[in-house]
Amino acid sequence: MNLGGNTVLITGGATGIGLALAARFLQAGSTVIAMGRRADVLQQAQQQLPGLHTRVCDVASAEERTALRDWATREFPGLNVLVNNAGVQRRLQVADEEAWSERQAEIAINFEAPVHLAGLFVPHLRQQAGAAIINVTSGLAFTPPTFAPIYGATKAALHSFTIALRHQLRDTSIEVLEIVPPAVNTDLGGTGLHTFGVPVNEFADSVMARLAAGELEVGFGTSEERRLASRAELDAATAAMNSRFS
Ligand SMILES: NC(=O)c1ccc[n+]([C@@H]2O[C@H](COP(=O)([O-])OP(=O)(O)OC[C@H]3O[C@@H](n4cnc5c(N)ncnc54)[C@H](OP(=O)(O)O)[C@@H]3O)[C@@H](O)[C@H]2O)c1
Repeated sequence: MNLGGNTVLITGGATGIGLALAARFLQAGSTVIAMGRRADVLQQAQQQLPGLHTRVCDVASAEERTALRDWATREFPGLNVLVNNAGVQRRLQVADEEAWSERQAEIAINFEAPVHLAGLFVPHLRQQAGAAIINVTSGLAFTPPTFAPIYGATKAALHSFTIALRHQLRDTSIEVLEIVPPAVNTDLGGTGLHTFGVPVNEFADSVMARLAAGELEVGFGTSEERRLASRAELDAATAAMNSRFS
């Protein structure tokens, strides 16, 4: 895909990976709209990246997703790239007692939202040149994490959906791309939980360069190994990772 000349909507675009992608699209000459739930965080992102447009929206809500589509296509009729990046990661034991709404929200943010937003935006994107939907999954889509079982399942589901969507849209102007991050040093799951991850800028430089070169599914480091691994290699990587958490 071309990184410049687009109008790009990034869910969760004010922090972490989303912010790093926003910076690179802006740098390449695209218009970028970042959205998320926290107005103050969106404002900070705008200060960091002059020219960034922002919108408060909770992608866990179907009504807000529809309102986002209506607003974005009205205000930015040339919008041609949707990046489904917003996500949360909750560490839990399945037998823990907690309200079902907590688990439902993780599924809604990580999986329902990208599926719903794809359906909402495809009719608009079909009319645009150089259109793309970019889904941000995870290396954990390939190696189920016992410490975050719902998270891993949502990412595996999103990986599967991305491949199916790419096939369905193969004869349209819309490219369907997937970014598969490894552990990246962001605040995902809470401050300090991912400090062991790779630096976000190094990761973003690599994946964006590869998308620009025409690749459809890109990982980095361990997630690149995992997305290409055999079943035996995946089983070994899953066992090694999960042994650190049991
Ligand atoms: N960091 C990693 O190690 C890693 C590894 C693999 C995959 N990923 C994936 O990369 C993506 C970005 O995560 P990150 O690492 O950059 O973490 P992050 O900094 O916590 O970013 C998550 C973003 O999603 C937004 N968000 C969460 N819930 C939302 C909701 N209901 N509605 C709208 N926005 C929402 C957050 O903003 P608000 O809280 O303001 O809404 C935040 O900007 C996620 O999909 C994550 O699963 C990350």
